[in-house]
Amino acid sequence: MNPLNHVAIIMDGNGRWGLKYKNSRNAGHKVGLNTVEKIIKETIKNRINFLTLFAFSTENWKRPKKEINYLFGLLENFLINRIEDLHKQNIKLKILGSKKFSPKLNKLLRNSERKTLNNTKLQINLALNYGSKSELIDAFKRIKKNKSTITEKNLSRNLQTKNIPDPDLLIRTGNTKRLSNFLLWQLAYSEIFFEKKLWPAFNVKDYNRIIKEYKLIKRNFGRI
Ligand code: FPP
Repeated sequence: MNPLNHVAIIMDGNGRWGLKYKNSRNAGHKVGLNTVEKIIKETIKNRINFLTLFAFSTENWKRPKKEINYLFGLLENFLINRIEDLHKQNIKLKILGSKKFSPKLNKLLRNSERKTLNNTKLQINLALNYGSKSELIDAFKRIKKNKSTITEKNLSRNLQTKNIPDPDLLIRTGNTKRLSNFLLWQLAYSEIFFEKKLWPAFNVKDYNRIIKEYKLIKRNFGRI
């Protein structure tokens, strides 16, 4: 059976779920946060060491201001109310993406990372204002500036995910089959599962079904 060390998730479908059941996209984000909590718990139960969640892309700035503010408000409350408990559970929080938010949110994010820095049970990477193409360009620029050679190892070392193993498994909910500028380099050999359910409807049973299926895949990494 395949070991499972790192799960990455594109949590898609909040807006559609919210509109369908509550007549409000933001209501979908709120329920989506409950799914996040359930999936974190189940990730620990499954003894998975890394969970990377795509919460806000560099392209998501194109959304209406009202929705963006609501999302960041949810995130602020999540950090204020939940970081102490996550810390007690020995969970480490790392932010991927550039922290260009309000001074209040930037500070909350920095403090949460600092507080949980030495925790070892589960590392949650929260991708916020993250885009894979700009991450790659920044990495190439740094290599050039340092006059280093371009190798796979060197590039990986210059990405924001340095010291994080590549995802074994990517799950995208919401019935859409694309990567949306998420971890393009890191997902080169990941097993990808596209799930029809919208993120707020995705549950622990669905998660465990995918994990079970993943564990049975023959991963060849180019060999036969
Ligand atoms: C994609 O659904 C989801 C997002 C852009 C935001 C993800 C946020 C959460 C799950 C809740 C907040 C999380 C944290 C960690 C505080 P979409 O809005 O693109 O859905 P659609 O495709 O139906 O429009």
